[in-house]
Amino acid sequence: MAQPPAPVTDLAWSPQQAEDLGTRVLDLWTELLERLPSLRVTRERTPAEVAPAVALPVPEEPMAVEDLVGHLRELTFEQSLHMGHPAFFAYICGAGTVPGAATELLAAGLNPCLGGYRLGPGANEIELHLTRWLAARFGLPEGAGGMIMTGGAMANFVGLKCARDQRLGLDVREDGVRGHPPVGIYASEGAHAVITRAADILGLGRAAVRPVPVDEELRMRPDALAEMLEHEDAQPMAVVATAGTTATGAIDPLPALAEVSAAHGAWFHVDAAYGGAAVLADDLRSPRPAPTSRAASSR
Ligand SMILES: Cc1ncc(COP(=O)(O)O)c(C=O)c1O
Repeated sequence: MAQPPAPVTDLAWSPQQAEDLGTRVLDLWTELLERLPSLRVTRERTPAEVAPAVALPVPEEPMAVEDLVGHLRELTFEQSLHMGHPAFFAYICGAGTVPGAATELLAAGLNPCLGGYRLGPGANEIELHLTRWLAARFGLPEGAGGMIMTGGAMANFVGLKCARDQRLGLDVREDGVRGHPPVGIYASEGAHAVITRAADILGLGRAAVRPVPVDEELRMRPDALAEMLEHEDAQPMAVVATAGTTATGAIDPLPALAEVSAAHGAWFHVDAAYGGAAVLADDLRSPRPAPTSRAASSR
């Protein structure tokens, strides 16, 4: 009879081993925080230099902790761009936070599965609570909530999938878009590239995204949108407003665009991947009262 394979003990580390490695990594991290202002943000590197330094041959035997920590040191101090550096102003990426990093260690250690409530009760409740709280900060009606996604690309994709299914009917999930008349997605010229990417992945084609002209402050023009919706032959599927465009931070006039969308039966989607965090700051939030009906804010 076949024998079960011997247990693999390499990954079953004792709490003492965890403490040893964890402490060394913690030392590395606090050293990074201390030295960060005096480090260079980055330097020019070529793949020919980086790859041999970090892409080590996959070892047959576990790496010694000493070597592993040396590898992490090389990665941290020599082969990374330091986004948390006070002089990092490129792109719009965040610096990371100390509480975020520390609690990610615990989250990775717990490795909860959110595929079912029982598999991660605490984590599931945090997702529900956080998204409801955020929805309230955005002034959405009671009962609104959401899901935590991996980032802006997936969040826009899922939002536009809801719009597609609503416009074409739920059968589209089984039958696909074949046989349906073309649909249009209306977004400002400054919308992020993930919108056209989502149109591609959703089977609508990138050409489904119609760029709407902007005003002198680079915000989508509601009058231009209304004009397009009146005259285009495609069914309006969604209007995508951007609350903080990536290139300039322009915030489209959301209430006016919501009204035009509702008048034409188009799903109103807001990409707030960049500017949305403004709702967390009382001095940046819109002083407008929260809308009273779900219809006013989602379609
Ligand atoms: C307005 C906007 N939408 C979407 C995205 C895509 O987000 P992510 O890179 O998290 O997928 C970005 C990223 O910069 C963005 O600025």
